[in-house]
Amino acid sequence: TRHLLSSADLSREEVEAILDTATEMHDVQRRQVKKLPTLRGRTVINFFFEDSTRTRSSFEIAGKWMSADTINLSAKGSSTSKGESLRDTVQTINAMAVDALVIRHNASGACQQVAQWVDASVINAGDGTHEHPTQALLDAYTLRSHLGDLDGRHVVIVGDLTHSRVFRSNVITLKTLGAHVTVVAPPTLMPSGIADWSKADGFATAWDLDEVLATGDVPDAVMMLRVQRERMSGGFFPTPREYTVGYGLTRPRLTALLARNPLALVLHPGPMNRGLEISADAADSAASVVLDQVSAGVAVRMSVLYHLLAGSEGAAA
Ligand code: CP
Repeated sequence: TRHLLSSADLSREEVEAILDTATEMHDVQRRQVKKLPTLRGRTVINFFFEDSTRTRSSFEIAGKWMSADTINLSAKGSSTSKGESLRDTVQTINAMAVDALVIRHNASGACQQVAQWVDASVINAGDGTHEHPTQALLDAYTLRSHLGDLDGRHVVIVGDLTHSRVFRSNVITLKTLGAHVTVVAPPTLMPSGIADWSKADGFATAWDLDEVLATGDVPDAVMMLRVQRERMSGGFFPTPREYTVGYGLTRPRLTALLARNPLALVLHPGPMNRGLEISADAADSAASVVLDQVSAGVAVRMSVLYHLLAGSEGAAA
């Protein structure tokens, strides 16, 4: 595949190949050999029209550790702020013979659109409420490094599903790897059409988090999602207090989870709203692999750049 726009672009073999290469990249990092010559002469532009800490910095580090020339741009500071259109902006960058455009944008579908306009490889670094495929890959990497093969493992994804590109990409990648997925949200944060979608893609939905944690399949991992208040123009219902009571990973819920499975993992893509969807007790507990996820992000993004760019002729060739 030339682009990475959706998690659905990747077959099981391709996901496993990316995760296997990421494991090798991680081993290289552990040996303190940070710089590989693999992408020398390649240019990677990270264009972030929406804010980011983890994704932007890890793509930049990943590119640099592979010896690519990486350049970071954001909406503020680019001519987007003068009214230049997305098409003119990306075609301008493309005309500089770049090899890859890593794009984050607040519009769902923006990356697919950009891929029609440029001949560089386009990597979706999060588009609106649509998808965040490299997040799902780094989550799968983290889960796999703790649990081994994900076939038959039970992952519970909890929170603001309506606005979550992390959830959408994770459901696809986890199902691709054979995991059993349950998604939990208050009715007001369940995406419309999820009943048909969950039936078609084979995942379970629920409103009652305590019931999911206490009965049925034992969770191997619980992934807490950020409540995305910046995307809630119509207000946030339930209230923050009600949300925490019903859906937060509080200390009693963490205790209940670990009583059922002492090896259960707690994930969060970040940035966390501590005290809202996740308590400090849970975020900082031994079960939490939040910083493992961040660390995996570099190795996985090195691997994605490798699979998309290495071996291709390159714009500079
Ligand atoms: N998880 C994630 O995408 O974080 P950032 O918004 O900080 O990149």
